Amino acid sequence: MSKQAIVFDRVSKTFPKASKPSVNETSLEIGQGSFVTILGASGCGKTTLLKMVNRIIEPSSGTISIFGKDIRQQPLTELRRSIGYVIQQIGLFPHMTIEQNISTVPEILGWDREKIKSRVKELMELVHLPESFSKRYPHQLSGGQQQRVGIARAMAGDPEVLLMDEPFGAIDAITRGKLQDDFKQIQQQLGKTVIFVTHDVEEALKLGDKMIVMNEGTIQQYDTPLRILEQPANEFVSRLVQADDLFQRLHLIRAEDSMIALDGHDPADAGQYPRLPAGASLKDALQLILKHGVPYVVIESVNGQPLGKITMANLYSVEGG
Ligand SMILES: Nc1ncnc2c1ncn2[C@@H]1O[C@H](COP(=O)(O)OP(=O)(O)OP(=O)(O)O)[C@@H](O)[C@H]1O
Ligand SMILES: [Mg+2]
Repeated sequence: MSKQAIVFDRVSKTFPKASKPSVNETSLEIGQGSFVTILGASGCGKTTLLKMVNRIIEPSSGTISIFGKDIRQQPLTELRRSIGYVIQQIGLFPHMTIEQNISTVPEILGWDREKIKSRVKELMELVHLPESFSKRYPHQLSGGQQQRVGIARAMAGDPEVLLMDEPFGAIDAITRGKLQDDFKQIQQQLGKTVIFVTHDVEEALKLGDKMIVMNEGTIQQYDTPLRILEQPANEFVSRLVQADDLFQRLHLIRAEDSMIALDGHDPADAGQYPRLPAGASLKDALQLILKHGVPYVVIESVNGQPLGKITMANLYSVEGG
């Protein structure tokens, strides 16, 4: 697991006529199987960073390697096929059915019909889309469903690396929470390496094993979500993630007063998720969630009975004041 999947070595990108670089002297190592989220204000260089990995944008200087191999030393088509890419605006092919959209890469790779068919079926199940959608066109699906297709399509050729640019951007909070949980689970199951761009602090903290905070083309901090909250590298990071505010607020609230009911599907009883006593604070809950990278913690009574759970969404719905 210590293998490096993606390495940036002093990579810069300055667009023609630009007065300053969009990505500036960036070095970065991303381990295999790692889920890295990138957070930063609009225009700070997130998409540019991502697009350099599959050479949609060529760096002005520096080197990017994937599994030890300089990406310039691989045929472009081969490189692109080995990387799943979910673009910022979904980008499904409008005149192709869902099935055809998902099979794009397998078709190019020349898989036989039966293999493609079963791959599409498997992927649609994976992203929880009904099989009956396969003959529909993208405009006949909701935005959230289209984003699921985009994810399935990116995964179709079984790439080791997935680049995702605000993939859940246009989705309501509830569907989004579900998609996040599903996708994180899929990623962990399959051991894919993911770079995931988002504007949403909660999403970045929740999904990332590690998180990059960017500002004006420069990485401000690359660390675990918990360390970013607890030890922001500078004023910019601290303001962006608002850790002080968040911790102060959460520290004052008992987990018991903010938990939600466990439903039948929760494997809480199996003891799979970390537990906290009812009197613990929400700050304790947040720290535990981030430390273990789990979707929620279980709140238990003094005699060890599960009482409810605290999720990231709970923590972020707590009002200030
Ligand atoms: N093809 C291009 N030509 C010239 N400048 C560009 C080009 N693409 C991006 N830029 C500039 O580079 C900077 C970084 O853009 P980028 O798309 O990487 O930002 P971003 O962090 O993804 O922003 P957002 O959150 O809005 O998607 C911006 O100032 C942008 O205007
Ligand atoms: Mg962008």
